[in-house]
Amino acid sequence: MIKFKFHLLLFIVIFTTNAIQSDVIQCEFEFINYFQLNKEFYMCKVSNIQIFNHGAKISIENAIGQNLENKKNEQVEGTNFSNAPNLNLIPTNLERIFPNIILIFINNSNLTQITSDDFKPFPKLKAIYILFNSIEFLCKDFFIHNRELEAISFWENKIRHIEPSTFKNLSSLRILDLRGNVCNFPDWVDDRNAVVNSIRKIEHGECLSEICSINNLIAETLARDRLMEQLKKKINK
Ligand SMILES: *[C@@H]1O[C@H](CO)[C@@H](O)[C@H](O)[C@H]1NC(C)=O
Ligand SMILES: *[C@@H]1O[C@H](CO)[C@@H](O)[C@H](O)[C@H]1NC(C)=O
Ligand SMILES: *[C@@H]1O[C@H](CO)[C@@H](O)[C@H](O)[C@H]1NC(C)=O
Ligand SMILES: *[C@@H]1O[C@H](CO)[C@@H](O)[C@H](O)[C@H]1NC(C)=O
Repeated sequence: MIKFKFHLLLFIVIFTTNAIQSDVIQCEFEFINYFQLNKEFYMCKVSNIQIFNHGAKISIENAIGQNLENKKNEQVEGTNFSNAPNLNLIPTNLERIFPNIILIFINNSNLTQITSDDFKPFPKLKAIYILFNSIEFLCKDFFIHNRELEAISFWENKIRHIEPSTFKNLSSLRILDLRGNVCNFPDWVDDRNAVVNSIRKIEHGECLSEICSINNLIAETLARDRLMEQLKKKINK
């Protein structure tokens, strides 16, 4: 009986982490003169976020809402997901609706992990702000497809592992904010020299945790499962 319950639990855990939910988001379009970056961004502020199911991967099918005058989805430069306690993973397929995103802003939600695929569709990404979330591990080289990043902030997460090579090759990075994490960097850093200093510390293994290797393994297994699912779908077609 106990064994059966355990299997059931395992099944539920695996099932829920793999669940994919389609969604149509509602945008409030606005210009935001974003602090730190000296630039005005044309943003979609997502306002119907409370419909997200806890733990699900969200695939964005469409965005509704009235673009500002003379603006189109192609001109949207950033998305703002805020105050979504059920948001555990970065939504997918955003790039189909907003192909030119350069700023991803997610505040006060409950992101627990990011994957290497999350930022791949946005090669021109300049800024990632993931504030007041629950990310614990930066286990992989998440930013290998985003060589133009200028700003990264994980202010107020729960980060306790940063893979030494995480920020390697990001030669335009000039803002790095890792304040308020388990692996604590007390200052937000906004000049290139200071950023290079922080990156050097990380490269020398300032933030390492054993759990990361296990976490990596799980992530790889999940990725393989997803691949299998996609293959099955293709074969069935
Ligand atoms: C994002 O949306 C929240 C909630 O509406 C708002 O308070 C915040 O100013 C927005 N931030 C950006 C950068 O657009
Ligand atoms: C992020 O969310 C926190 C918590 O609600 C809020 O205090 C803060 O002002 C927000 N920051 C930004 C930049 O929107
Ligand atoms: C955040 O997500 C984690 C993992 O799904 C969950 O255990 C936790 O309860 C969530 N926290 C909040 C405040 O919703
Ligand atoms: C950095 O660039 C080198 C040379 O292009 C490449 O081999 C390596 O994989 C890159 N590493 C990361 C973490 O981006």
